[in-house]
Amino acid sequence: MSGNLKVGVIGVRGIANTHFPGWRDSPHTEVVALADVDPDVLAAKGADLGIGKLYQDPYALIADPDIAIVDICTPNMYHAPLAIAALGAGKHVLCEKPLAPTPREIEQMIEARDRSGKLLMTAQHFRFDGAARAMKAQIDAGRLGQVYHARSWMLRRSGAPTRPTFIEKKHSGGGPCIDIGVHILDLTLWMMGHPKPVAVSGVTQDRLRRLPGAFSNWGGPIPASWDVEEFAAAFVRFDTGATLVLEVSWLLNHPKTHGEDMQMWLYGDKGGAHWPANVLLQTDNATRQHMDVQLQNKEGGEPHALECMAFADAVAAGKPSPVPAEQSLDVIRILDALYRSATEGREVRLD
Ligand SMILES: NC(=O)c1ccc[n+]([C@@H]2O[C@H](COP(=O)([O-])OP(=O)(O)OC[C@H]3O[C@@H](n4cnc5c(N)ncnc54)[C@H](O)[C@@H]3O)[C@@H](O)[C@H]2O)c1
Repeated sequence: MSGNLKVGVIGVRGIANTHFPGWRDSPHTEVVALADVDPDVLAAKGADLGIGKLYQDPYALIADPDIAIVDICTPNMYHAPLAIAALGAGKHVLCEKPLAPTPREIEQMIEARDRSGKLLMTAQHFRFDGAARAMKAQIDAGRLGQVYHARSWMLRRSGAPTRPTFIEKKHSGGGPCIDIGVHILDLTLWMMGHPKPVAVSGVTQDRLRRLPGAFSNWGGPIPASWDVEEFAAAFVRFDTGATLVLEVSWLLNHPKTHGEDMQMWLYGDKGGAHWPANVLLQTDNATRQHMDVQLQNKEGGEPHALECMAFADAVAAGKPSPVPAEQSLDVIRILDALYRSATEGREVRLD
């Protein structure tokens, strides 16, 4: 279906391919233009999708007066300049995660959003996962009570994306913290109801990739240009008194040779919960019963497509961004504090 909101997508090689079905299936949107600095990628995707407006210069796409929504799917370091330019040109912006690798850049994006009056959303697709939506509905209904502790991790045994745009800080802004930490941290903060982070104690490690013959199942030999962490852990305190233990890694002697181990445990005074198993754990003191409740996943579709459709719905209805940039700012403030804590060897306060 083609809609009234014309979409231009910037950076069309990888993750953008999970966005196109959402723009196609939304009743509000139609992709009319693509941009990519790689002319071969651009030409191939244009031919594949039958799109004629192809820009090698992303700022030419941003200047295109037909376009209402700019979808940014470039490597991390280009998110902020492109988003700020697009908002300045009066476009709504959906931007891949991380919104930007540093708090300062996100603050500038928020300022640009507020000047323009347009929507800015981070593409945190795990919020649109059917299991996550089912659990969030239970938490919002009070089934866990006050969540006072969480444990979250996203760990890969041999899953480092070895391209320069992920493993060189000048392109990515960081390693697994910035690449996959944002996923599990955003999901956890969303489930916890976005308490304000006040202190972070963190550590980073860089060991396995230095061993002779080190490799990644996601890209082969480890390139010499790698200059980001391979593992990080943090203990986070929130203004509510709640706490979080976070672990992320691309390379770790941890089960799962392929894919990744991504889990979240939430502990509240009325119940606990595990994602993605989607089990609620509750205790009835009167009958001395422990009850494990298996939730049914919400149906609805593929999460990346759903995030695009949710953004289109919000733009069309004049509603707020489904993933507000302020929430992404808190995610990056925590990760930035984790890096500082690891360097300084002490807890870093955020309040
Ligand atoms: N949500 C997810 O699950 C998920 C998964 C993978 C990647 N990502 C995010 O998506 C973004 C892109 O990652 P990817 O894996 O698709 O990378 P990719 O390298 O496969 O694709 C990026 C494309 O952007 C183009 N590009 C680079 N700089 C550009 C610029 N300044 N202007 C226009 N085009 C430019 C490249 O030529 C390339 O075609 C990253 O921010 C990454 O964190 C998200």
